[in-house]
Amino acid sequence: KRKIAVMTSGGDAPGMNGAVRAVVRMAIAKGCDAFCIHEGYDGLVKGGDMIKKTEWDDVRGYLAEGGTLIGTARCAAFRERWGRLKAAKNLIEKGIDALIVCGGDGSLTGADLFRKEWPSLLAELVEKKELTAEQTEGHGNLNIVGLVGSIDNDMCSTDATIGCYSSLHRICDSVDCIADTAQSHQRAFVVEVMGRHCGWLALMSAISTGADFLFIPEVPPARDWKKGMCNIITEHRKMGKRTTIVIVAEGAQDLDLKKISPEDVRKLLAEELGLDTRVTTLGHVQRGGQPCAYDRMLSTLQGADAVNAVLEATPETPSPVISIIENKIVRNPLVQAVQLTQQVADTIARKEFDKALHLRDSEFAE
Ligand code: F6P
Repeated sequence: KRKIAVMTSGGDAPGMNGAVRAVVRMAIAKGCDAFCIHEGYDGLVKGGDMIKKTEWDDVRGYLAEGGTLIGTARCAAFRERWGRLKAAKNLIEKGIDALIVCGGDGSLTGADLFRKEWPSLLAELVEKKELTAEQTEGHGNLNIVGLVGSIDNDMCSTDATIGCYSSLHRICDSVDCIADTAQSHQRAFVVEVMGRHCGWLALMSAISTGADFLFIPEVPPARDWKKGMCNIITEHRKMGKRTTIVIVAEGAQDLDLKKISPEDVRKLLAEELGLDTRVTTLGHVQRGGQPCAYDRMLSTLQGADAVNAVLEATPETPSPVISIIENKIVRNPLVQAVQLTQQVADTIARKEFDKALHLRDSEFAE
């Protein structure tokens, strides 16, 4: 019987539980044993009870739950070879040689490195007599499949990451609430949203709430943005608007890569336009709560395909990441997806903004 393990890693995202449920049930339906690794890579390194055989009924009710019920962690030990050696030993002792990881680009990069090192990790463990040669027999390759779980929607290779639409809904609900109180007092609000180095959440929430102005990392504002923003907001007020909403992505920066802080924007609106202005940092409310229907659907379809990808893999198949492109669930090479995501970040850091925007979609759209 094949033994397939699933884990969640990095920042939690709504829909991760749906992915775990789908992997466990699809694995069992295909005649395999399913295992959940608790607390992300921390659990993989610790082993023992952290790697639990999981049955069909154990994941009942998972679809509608927020966060990740099997836990997650940002793990330092797995970045070191000794940590990966322990992780390999723990998997072999349970007879597991297929790992489905739901996480962001950092977590998936770690998974692929683990796959590359796998033969040498096993050889070292046998040499150190921590495993016997018999234990490693038939487990010469580690199958890794990635599922992109992150609210940021910052990964190249997929149109949507698991969790991004739930987070977008939460931001829109919050901005709607803010707009109620803003219009009562004719106030301005500067709302900071998450997304790390990616402006997707900020851009989509600004469109969805009809915000007056927006700052995102990928498209820094023109040099005279202060004057430009004040002119636009003055126009909107003249048209009868009682509210002003400015959305600032947490990674927003100007053309010199200097952070645009919500407090600076607040001061400007207060001092230049005389608007009574408040700052709201939405913070981790954007990450919690029930997954929306789209994330339940996406995580279920992708979790099921991840199991198929494990069962269809040959030693030559590169590790795939399960994506959605133009409404179709597809598999893309994990390494290429991670590299392209890094390349976009590097291009932005070199201030080649137009090139970065083009890069983000180019490779996988073909
Ligand atoms: O990657 C998801 C995310 O929520 C980012 O949007 C944010 O920058 C970061 O994680 C916050 O991380 P932490 O929860 O560790 O503070």
